[in-house]
Amino acid sequence: MKVLKATNENIALAAGVIKKGGLVAFPTETVYGLGADGLDPITVAKIFEAKQRPSFNPLILHIASCDKFHSICDINNGAVDKLIKKFWPGPLTLVLPKKNIVPDIVTAGHPTVAVRMPNHPVALELIKQSDRPIAAPSANAFSQLSPTNADHVVKQLNNKVDIILDGGSCTVGVESTILHVGEDSFNILRPGGLAIEEIESVIGKVNIVTSSDESPLAPGQLKYHYAPRIELKFFNEVNLSEYAGKKIGALLFSGNKYNRKFTKEKILTPNGDLREAAANLFSYLHELENEDLDIILVDSIEETGLGKAIMDRLRKAANKFI
Ligand code: TXA
Ligand code: MG
Repeated sequence: MKVLKATNENIALAAGVIKKGGLVAFPTETVYGLGADGLDPITVAKIFEAKQRPSFNPLILHIASCDKFHSICDINNGAVDKLIKKFWPGPLTLVLPKKNIVPDIVTAGHPTVAVRMPNHPVALELIKQSDRPIAAPSANAFSQLSPTNADHVVKQLNNKVDIILDGGSCTVGVESTILHVGEDSFNILRPGGLAIEEIESVIGKVNIVTSSDESPLAPGQLKYHYAPRIELKFFNEVNLSEYAGKKIGALLFSGNKYNRKFTKEKILTPNGDLREAAANLFSYLHELENEDLDIILVDSIEETGLGKAIMDRLRKAANKFI
């Protein structure tokens, strides 16, 4: 495995690796992806192997232009056109009817495919030069914290990847919002880096399918996910006095309101800016999981805008320890 700075030369090298059936971890604006040729089933299988991801969980195809979009999915819908025009490239994934060219392993046998155009120059250039859609889940080991810089990828996928392109830290910091396009409805399968309010400002009200719903639309909405290796709980679900003498890592929203000092404190956004909080979320959790702590306690955040995606990730992390 090589960690390479994302220069033009190294992007070209990485595109060669993709074309030859290798695995490349690359930066996007949301999180790092673990990419492979999205139209070659054998190569896509390597992604599942490297991540130890269950094969019933389908992958997102990443594209760099709209002509590729129409080659992989079968859709003619004015509202979808409006979304694409407004939000691509960006943190919005669309789930739509697939064309035959998309292998079943990518969609886990579903008749739909998830597609997105990432808003990151390195990702776009890599896809363009590879000249095919790149299938990429987040570049973490299954169910663990998502990676928002190259070091996080090294920590989890060391030597399971041919090349890691280092393009610095991700600016959005949480995964894309996933929107399923139904025949006469739009359904959010995962809140993410594009606020639901923004989507609704373009196409009107959407349904929100939460992970507790037994919905066949959302095969990947596992109940726990994104979890650090150290136990994680919400401050408002514990009795702090029971943790006297324990080494507590505190993930705080905008400051410490608990009248005591913690072993390690991380403040997501001193100014209460949800975008900043999202951008810091995984990177602070990675830092906390590297410390010698007994537990990580986290603040609850108001669920407007990106607060919804942040709380979704934290709840899924906490679920692992219930
Ligand atoms: O921001 C992101 O979306 C990142 C970057 C790398 O693009 N990717 C990412 O991929 O988060 P992943 O594999 O970690 O999450 C993709 C989610 C999974 O929950 C999966 O179940 C869902 O998308 N998904 C993929 N295809 C689907 C389909 N056809 N129907 C429903 N859900 C689908
Ligand atoms: Mg993931």
